Amino acid sequence: MDSILVKGGTPLHGKIQIAGAKNAALALMPATLLSEEPLTLTNAPRLSDIATMTALLQSLGVEVTSMQGGKVQVLSSHDMTSTTADYEIVRKMRASNLVLGPLLARHHRAIVSLPGGCAIGARPMDIHVTALEAMGAEIELKDGYLHATAKGGLRGARVPLRFASVGATENVLMAATLAKGTTIIENAAREPEIVDLAHCLRRMGAQIEGEGTSTITIQGVDRLGAATHPVVTDRIELGTYMLAPVFAGGEVECLGGRLDLVRSFVEKLDAAGVDVTETADGLKVKRRDDRARAVDITTEVFPGFPTDLQAQMMAMLCTATGTSVLEEKIFENRFMHAPELVRMGANIEVHGGTATVTGVDRLKGARVMATDLRASVSLILAGMAAEGETLVSRVYHLDRGYEHVEEKLSALGAQIERVSGS
Ligand code: EPZ
Repeated sequence: MDSILVKGGTPLHGKIQIAGAKNAALALMPATLLSEEPLTLTNAPRLSDIATMTALLQSLGVEVTSMQGGKVQVLSSHDMTSTTADYEIVRKMRASNLVLGPLLARHHRAIVSLPGGCAIGARPMDIHVTALEAMGAEIELKDGYLHATAKGGLRGARVPLRFASVGATENVLMAATLAKGTTIIENAAREPEIVDLAHCLRRMGAQIEGEGTSTITIQGVDRLGAATHPVVTDRIELGTYMLAPVFAGGEVECLGGRLDLVRSFVEKLDAAGVDVTETADGLKVKRRDDRARAVDITTEVFPGFPTDLQAQMMAMLCTATGTSVLEEKIFENRFMHAPELVRMGANIEVHGGTATVTGVDRLKGARVMATDLRASVSLILAGMAAEGETLVSRVYHLDRGYEHVEEKLSALGAQIERVSGS
């Protein structure tokens, strides 16, 4: 397994290109199952999660052609061979469950393995199941698989979500495009990835209104056609790299960055003493003083502070002046980066879903272990600010969601390299 070696203390300068959003692409790719016409995605990110989704769709008979080094994906589900999403693939990536809605909508049946828990929580699928049953699906759990059928196809319905689940909103949104009649999703997730999916489905011929608000209305149509769609900028990669100059000092411009994608995050950066300036090409970021200031964070559904930036923010606050309180409200176990940061000299106390971080002058390099995707990158960022060397192991987590981190950060002047096999 690869590790990443980081030496701290070098301020960063330059520009970094933000890629297309992993969490948008992982919902856009299954949308091909809704139509027998080709779906072309541009600005696609090159990540191992995308390769996993490609393998899953190919196992169903979808033809996936990657071009321009993976930045363009052409998908065609004209010749489907299966409607079963196998455990071996689904257990590696929860987003595999996003084939459930499209398969039910167009093929009226699906067998999808439950993803099982992951490091950050149990992550059940009850909201997905309840919603699709409201649309006429019959779903039974057998041997760890959801066996779903929709005799005569799905029908439009009022679908209130008990929690604004991103994945459940995406599954229902896709399923409703081909259901008979009108579907109204209430308490829908409002994330930019939902908006991006709705834009793509509309290009395919879907009739959708209200994406980005808590109520989305979909008028079912008989069939969907071909489309070409650019994947929206990755707001989590954006937020992650915006923090890089806050850790290491210097000034960085994130190309493709859009303020509307990270407004709640930027409000917290401003309170922490960080300047964010909109440029013609993106967002420029610079710390005002030698150290950031403590801020309190509570993760919420969009447009609140994103849970996927909580680990990165906690790492930054380890050397801020003062004490910060972070509340993780979305996942039940998303503080696994805290003990790793404590190994680097951070002062963090975790009680349930609340972490209290008291800033120290400087972290010290150490051997640390990545536990999940976003925790892994927060340890690398911490290493850039620490005294001495930090070796982050298990970086396969990192490659799931960040394109060539060491190359992008080296280009800004960071002393970082990948150490294979240790
Ligand atoms: C998406 O996961 C993202 N993944 C996650 O990003 C992100 O953290 C999450 O949304 C929240 O923003 C993708 O888009 C591929 P949820 P998803 O359904 O859809 C509970 C990353 O790092 N829940 O909004 O799985 C669930 O357990 C990943 O890129 C139920 O209880 O998130 C969790 O506590 C990590 N029952 C909360 O809701 C359900 O049926 C949020 O889950 C569904 C969810």
